[in-house]
Amino acid sequence: MNVTIVSGEQWPDATARLLRDLPEWFGIEQSVLNYIDAARTLPSTAAPRNDEVVGVCLLRRHTPVAAEIELLAVRRALHRQGIGRRLVRAVEEHLRDSGVQLLQVKTFGPSGASEEYARTRAFYRSIGFIPLEERTDIWGPENPCLISVKPLRRSEPAERHNCRSKLAEQRVLGEYALPPVHEDEAPIRSRWATMRA
Ligand SMILES: CC(C)(COP(=O)(O)OP(=O)(O)OC[C@H]1O[C@@H](n2cnc3c(N)ncnc32)[C@H](O)[C@@H]1OP(=O)(O)O)[C@@H](O)C(=O)NCCC(=O)NCCS
Repeated sequence: MNVTIVSGEQWPDATARLLRDLPEWFGIEQSVLNYIDAARTLPSTAAPRNDEVVGVCLLRRHTPVAAEIELLAVRRALHRQGIGRRLVRAVEEHLRDSGVQLLQVKTFGPSGASEEYARTRAFYRSIGFIPLEERTDIWGPENPCLISVKPLRRSEPAERHNCRSKLAEQRVLGEYALPPVHEDEAPIRSRWATMRA
């Protein structure tokens, strides 16, 4: 798919077109208007193709080390062609460079019935997000909210092979240490997973 990934501008009109194209995901008018408004100010990354923006990602920085994907949308006709993955990858690279260590995203949770959002959750899992918890006190009991997170680790080869620094890291994190998470790798392989099994 011939798209480039760009950031540093705002794309509210393109965001509006993308959301109107996806009513199964973005069907609540007030939240669509809120997203369009957010697209005027939040850090934005877009995928333009032949003069048309076919994907957009809005980011919210919560703390110097933690950020959130506020919105991610890809034009319906171009789903499953790698655009969403490329948008998030570009965002992650930028965040890592600016010191962010944890990225979160909120999606409609698995206890609600939505075939569309089941696909959305499959997307996030496939790119390394870990389902953290489902809550009903954020969007209300009718709209369970799944919070997923992804640690953004630097993975310089030299560091990965440096056993001494690896051991030091394990000592600091103790049993909470997670293995490095790579895209396309089944994400949950920590001691937590073993304990829950
Ligand atoms: C979710 C969304 C952004 C994903 O973008 P996309 O460009 O379609 O996804 P990609 O092609 O990059 O998919 C990457 C991987 O995610 C997984 N994936 C994506 N869509 C999937 C689906 N429908 N079912 C299962 N897995 C899926 C696959 O592993 C895929 O890799 P593969 O195609 O090589 O198997 C896009 O489908 C979308 O706009 N959905 C509607 C809005 C939405 O859900 N936004 C997120 C709200 S937080």
